[in-house]
Amino acid sequence: MINIAIDGPAGAGKSSVAKLAAKELGFIYIDTGALYRAVGVAVLRKGLKTDCREDVLSVLPDIKLGIVFVDGEQRVMLNGEDVSRDIRLPEASMAASNVSAIPEVREFLLEMQKKFARENNCLMDGRDIGTVILPHARPKIFLTASPEVRADRRYKELMEKGTPKDYNELLEEIKLRDYNDSHRAVAPLKPADDAYILDSSDMPIDEVVAKIVSLAKEAM
Ligand code: DC
Repeated sequence: MINIAIDGPAGAGKSSVAKLAAKELGFIYIDTGALYRAVGVAVLRKGLKTDCREDVLSVLPDIKLGIVFVDGEQRVMLNGEDVSRDIRLPEASMAASNVSAIPEVREFLLEMQKKFARENNCLMDGRDIGTVILPHARPKIFLTASPEVRADRRYKELMEKGTPKDYNELLEEIKLRDYNDSHRAVAPLKPADDAYILDSSDMPIDEVVAKIVSLAKEAM
C-alpha cells in the first residue's frame, strides 16, 4: 500500500489540502486528529478533566472508536455514535491537545492508525505520522504556516460560519496548542528527518495541493 504522511501544527490547513490531494490521487484521507478529539469528547462527556491523567485513564477502557466513510467523508464513531459534529466544537480542540499528551492515549490509538495504513492507499494527517505512526511513508510532508496566518485563516472561517471570535484570542490559542503539541514528552510535533517542509503562509490552497500531488507522484 502507498502511504503519504502530512504533519504540521494546528490550523496549517492540513485537512483541507489533504482531502483535495487524496481525491486527486484516488487515496483515502485519514484525519487522525479526529481520533484524539473523540477521546477528548468522551472525557468531557463524563464531566472529567482532560488534563488529568487519572481522569482520562479511567475513561479509556470504556471507549470504542471506529472510523467509517460516508460518501468518501470520514466519520468518527464513539461507542457506536457518530460524534463527527461534537469533535469540532471549540472545547474539543484543547481537550484533544490535552489527552494527546498522555502516552496511554497515544498507545490506544496507535494500532488503529497503522491498520488503516496497512489496508489502504492513504494520505494520513496528524502530528506524528511521519515520525512515529508511518515511518515508511513516502513522501512525508510537514505543512506549516506562521501563527498569524493560521489565526487569520481561522478568524475568516469562523466569520463565514457566523460564529466570530476575537483574532487575538485565536492567535493565543494557536500558540498555546503549538507549544503543547511540540513540548510533550511522547511523539511531539516535529518534522521527520526526511520530511519535505512546506510553508503555506504565502501559498494559495491549489498550489499547496499541486505540490503535494507532485511529490506523491515522484515517490511512487
Ligand atoms: O489536527 P487536530 O487539530 O484535529 O488535532 C487535535 C489535537 O490532537 C492536536 O492538538 C494534537 C493532537 N494530535 C496528535 O497529538 N497527534 C496526531 N496524529 C493528531 C492530532
